[in-house]
Amino acid sequence: MTTNFIINGTPYTAKLSDLPSDITLNTFIREHAGLPGTKFMCQEGGCGVCICVVTGKHPVTAEIRTWAVNSCLTLLSTCADWEITTTEGIGNKREGYHPIQQRLAKMNGTQCGYCSPGFVMNMYGLLKSKGNTITMEEVENSFGGNICRCTGYRPILDAMKSFAVDSNIEIPDECRDIEDLSNKMCPKTGVACSGACNGLKKRSPIEYDDGGQWFWPKSLADVFSAIDQSNGSN
Ligand code: FES
Ligand code: FES
Repeated sequence: MTTNFIINGTPYTAKLSDLPSDITLNTFIREHAGLPGTKFMCQEGGCGVCICVVTGKHPVTAEIRTWAVNSCLTLLSTCADWEITTTEGIGNKREGYHPIQQRLAKMNGTQCGYCSPGFVMNMYGLLKSKGNTITMEEVENSFGGNICRCTGYRPILDAMKSFAVDSNIEIPDECRDIEDLSNKMCPKTGVACSGACNGLKKRSPIEYDDGGQWFWPKSLADVFSAIDQSNGSN
C-alpha cells in the first residue's frame, strides 16, 4: 500500500509496507527526504523541535485547513494527501529567509539554534491557521510545547509577538553582526579603532629565572627578531 504527500512542493510516494509500521513523519522528513532542518529530541511531543506545518482536509468537514504538528508523534500512515512544509520550505540560505526566521535571529531569539526551527514553524502554522491575524495573547498561549535550553524565552516571545496585530514590541531595523562592525571604538582612546594599535609601545621580553624568554611578536618580522634575540642570548 502506498501513500502520497507533498513535502516543500515535492511529491512523495511512500510504500508503507516497505517501511517500519511505526515510522513517523519526523523520520521520513529527516532520513528519507533528507531535510534535517526539522529536529528531534524528546520523541514524545514535549519539546517542539520537530514541529512542521501541514495542510490537509478536515476528516469530518472536508474543509482544507493548515496546522502545526509534532512530526515525532505523527505516523507517516496518517499523512495521505497532506502538503507538508518544513523550515527549509519557508526560507533558507540559498533563497533567502522567511520574515519569521529573520526576526527571530535579529531579535536575539536564537543561540545554539536547535529549538529555532520548531519555534519558527509553530509561529508559521499559527499565522497560517489564523489568516495572519493573531494577538499577542494568542502568541503567548501557543508556545507551551516549545522548549529552548539556551536563550530564555523573552527574546523568542518578543520576536514572535512582534507579528501580532496588537504588538507593541519594537522591531530593530537591522541587528548588525558583531563581525560586521567596522567602526569599533577603542577602549583605550575612545575613538574609532585604526585596526593596528600603531604607536603603542612594544613590550619588552620577559626573562625567566630558568633562562626562558617570552616575546610579544605582532608581525612576522617581530617573530624573526625574537628568534635572533633568543639565539644571540644562548
Ligand atoms: S521531538 Fe520533542 S516534541 Fe517531537
Ligand atoms: S537556542 Fe539553543 S535550545 Fe533554543
